[in-house]
Amino acid sequence: MEFFDSHAHYNDDQFNQDREETITKIFAENVTKITCAGYNIKSSEFAVRLSKQYDFIYATVGISPNDITGVKIEDVNKIAELAQNNKVVAIGEIGLDYYWNKENQEQQKAFFIRQIELADTLNLPIVIHCRDAVMDTLDILKNQINPKQRGIFHCCMLNKELIKEAVKLGFYISFSGNITFKNAKPKEAIEEVPIDKILIETDSPYLTPEPFRSCRNDSRNVKLVANKIAEIKGVSLAEISQLTYQNAKQIYKI
Ligand code: NI
Repeated sequence: MEFFDSHAHYNDDQFNQDREETITKIFAENVTKITCAGYNIKSSEFAVRLSKQYDFIYATVGISPNDITGVKIEDVNKIAELAQNNKVVAIGEIGLDYYWNKENQEQQKAFFIRQIELADTLNLPIVIHCRDAVMDTLDILKNQINPKQRGIFHCCMLNKELIKEAVKLGFYISFSGNITFKNAKPKEAIEEVPIDKILIETDSPYLTPEPFRSCRNDSRNVKLVANKIAEIKGVSLAEISQLTYQNAKQIYKI
């Protein structure tokens, strides 16, 4: 069995002490593809560096809605430059987050739209971060972009209506450790996603699944996410590992 962690942050400071060692362990435990996601210029550069260093790591580059304070819209040009590297597989994470930032919604929308346009020009998918901003995110996807544009809802909110609409638009849905949390009710949301649109991720070092919630997350735990989905879909873990591997390769064009 092999696993594809479709979204992790090995560019995060929490890996400074043991990055190489951790990445080596992960690969040895059958997580044989990882996408390392950028969220601002510095972390996007780092993601690209890691993708050059490790065959099995790919990169996404982008400016997240929580990283736009003090950033100019022209800085998206630096993301465009980074996206020229051949292991960059998507523009992201980008999107809207009204949970952490309510004050700058217009600025968030401007960065989101500008980066969707960039992805369209480069023929790359987008990786969407959406938190407490479902209506505006769907409005932008439905009305302001090329209808051929595709992408991923990363660490997708367990919101059945959002998932329904996202799937209708041809987007992939990526689930993370939060589906294993004791208070989570993921069944309805997961049932809503067709098997050819499901992805698994860890969002490491964050969102560690049960039963390891108090520890730092790494990609080995993607198996726990896969397991939960297998349980809900009523199929084997092997099937989910294979399906999600193929789906990730498909959307990232690997
Ligand atoms: Ni992330």
